[in-house]
Amino acid sequence: MRQFSRRTLLKVLCGVGLAAGSAPSWLLAKSLDPIKKSIPVSGEKLPVIGMGSSRTFDVSETPARSALLPVLQAFFDEGGGLIDSSPMYGNAEQVLGDLLQEVDNKQAMFAATKVWIEGKQQGIEQMQHSMQRMAVKRFDLMQIHNLRDWRVHLETLNNWKNEGRIRYIGITTSHGRFHHQLEVILDSEPLDFVQFSYNIANREVEKRLLPLARERNIAVLVNRPYARGELFRVVKGKTLPDWAAEFDCNSWGQYFLKYVVSHADVTCTIPATSSLKHMLDNMGAGFGRLPDAAMRRRMEVYFAGL
Ligand SMILES: NC(=O)c1ccc[n+]([C@@H]2O[C@H](COP(=O)([O-])OP(=O)(O)OC[C@H]3O[C@@H](n4cnc5c(N)ncnc54)[C@H](OP(=O)(O)O)[C@@H]3O)[C@@H](O)[C@H]2O)c1
Repeated sequence: MRQFSRRTLLKVLCGVGLAAGSAPSWLLAKSLDPIKKSIPVSGEKLPVIGMGSSRTFDVSETPARSALLPVLQAFFDEGGGLIDSSPMYGNAEQVLGDLLQEVDNKQAMFAATKVWIEGKQQGIEQMQHSMQRMAVKRFDLMQIHNLRDWRVHLETLNNWKNEGRIRYIGITTSHGRFHHQLEVILDSEPLDFVQFSYNIANREVEKRLLPLARERNIAVLVNRPYARGELFRVVKGKTLPDWAAEFDCNSWGQYFLKYVVSHADVTCTIPATSSLKHMLDNMGAGFGRLPDAAMRRRMEVYFAGL
């Protein structure tokens, strides 16, 4: 059965002149425009919900690729922008590149990938290969994956940025053991983006990395907002609290994503999914109200008690 997105439904309802009084409240609570945050260094706005591609887009068989087409289309139809990949993710860049030829409505795409190899020339060749695989003329964001050979690649990335071959430079990790080294790099190098893990069960970065990113005017991309899906195992069989409706949250997925992007220093998060249902759920977190500081605290306490 075809699934209608909230945006499509709202457009249809507006089109038939539905009286405001008879529309469902969850629908009226949301505008057609996704929540966006600014990239500090430029002021350019990004929708707060992006998408990752690790594992989910690393497929080789034709049926699996075809099944991802509606997932990617829903991302753009629901106002998505940033897509994060890496040469580390097997076939993901190639699969994204192939599917991007087939999807519509992708004008807002903000293409991000990573360099993940030792050596200057090897890094250059890998990035050129990624451009071919993802079928982009230039990447909006090129990140150094897991700090690998970062001094060497940073020099290349600064040159490429000056030449207009990439728009922004970033660095990533998902490992706590790299946090100290990452702090030293953020403190000393001019970077536009940093990417690390943050979620309601892992708030380590609130202490140092998030404040440092703010201080240094660096946009923050959050990976693993669901702790690789682990958070859903914690809430399995548990009911979403009624008060989640106060910040337009309809699911546990939206509870977790709205928690992440409501942190003042987070710019965007990149949940990964291979499911259309989950993509629509995730994109729904990019609309309506976000929890304020008091509500965030309530969410933490509630989650810790589960
Ligand atoms: N060092 C780095 O640069 C680094 C490290 C880690 C991650 N990343 C990036 O961050 C992205 C996200 O991290 P991640 O993929 O590790 O983990 P994640 O996004 O925290 O979790 C992904 C898992 O959540 C499930 N899921 C997604 N949406 C759901 C929903 N609405 N309801 C229920 N289940 C849902 C997915 O399964 P289904 O497919 O069944 O939906 C998948 O198993 C990666 O894909 C990658 O792009 C970067």
